[in-house]
Amino acid sequence: MKRIGIVCDGGDAPGINAAIRAVARASFDREFEVLGFIDGFHGLIEDDVKIITKPSVSGILTLGGSILGISRFNPYKDPKHVEAIKENFKKNNLTLLVFIGDRDTVTVAKKLSEEGVPSIVVPKSIDNDVYGTDHSIGFDTAVSFIASSLDNLHATASAHHRLMVVETMGRETGWLALFGGLAGGADYIVIPEVPFNIEEIAKHVESRRKEGKNFSIVTVAEGVVLPGEDTSKFEYDEFGHKVNSKRMVGYRLASELENLTHLRTRVMILGYLQRGGIPTNTDRLLATRLGVEAVNLTSKGIFNVVVGVKNGEVITTPYEDAYDKINMADVTYFELARLFF
Ligand code: F6P
Repeated sequence: MKRIGIVCDGGDAPGINAAIRAVARASFDREFEVLGFIDGFHGLIEDDVKIITKPSVSGILTLGGSILGISRFNPYKDPKHVEAIKENFKKNNLTLLVFIGDRDTVTVAKKLSEEGVPSIVVPKSIDNDVYGTDHSIGFDTAVSFIASSLDNLHATASAHHRLMVVETMGRETGWLALFGGLAGGADYIVIPEVPFNIEEIAKHVESRRKEGKNFSIVTVAEGVVLPGEDTSKFEYDEFGHKVNSKRMVGYRLASELENLTHLRTRVMILGYLQRGGIPTNTDRLLATRLGVEAVNLTSKGIFNVVVGVKNGEVITTPYEDAYDKINMADVTYFELARLFF
């Protein structure tokens, strides 16, 4: 009899519940038991856990958020936390943990694996930055939200002849600004992967105006560092990543563009709305495939890997190869988007 413990870690993303359901149902099919830890690592450390049953995962496929709760937490900040994890892993007689997590989760999972706590990471992140998969769970839903937001913003920006700067999430990568901007017809896209020049963007907005387009929409990834920004003022989270929520990249970019173009400019920070919502079919399918694969791997005795999808195929990447890498945005899509600027 195998026992799987599910832990949701990091920021939430649409499709987490679909992944929980997939792990649970595939486990029941093999007569494995499944435990769910409450609020991520907090549950694992405090042994706040519940048994997952078929009824408890019924009807959750379409729900955003996480029925188990979730948290962003680095257990390696305190050795007592790591000891508690090891103890509770043993106490609950677990075969392995399935982390529904992000890039930081892979780093923590790798360290835990070296201390005898085996696991598998099912990647979820609207940022789509987990290495070892083309797409992470939640990314597609967030892109759909951004694209439909741009549809709405086109109406108001064009009616008022305004320049609209739309800030998307994306801590270190530009996937959301790029894919959302491409799908929503942005007139310029600013992402960390592609060097940019604010004067050039302003000139581009000007040239659109000369062509009779008296409004423009620019998407910008929150992780972008603007020229002249005082990086010594950055705040960092417990994993050492800069906190972007207070940096107001969208407002700073908008104010520079307004000064240069003299166009009336407005800012839209899409923020946490990108993380909520009903998962798209693509995210439901991805979560289902990856969750079921995590159980297949468990039954084969394979662990300490990230499960992912590459070119449509389900694959695995050992933690060793994934933990220190970032899935940066594919800039060939920027070349594609540029055609429409
Ligand atoms: O999950 C990734 C992400 O959505 C980033 O884009 C964002 O910077 C970060 O989470 C914010 O997370 P929180 O405020 O929940 O810690």
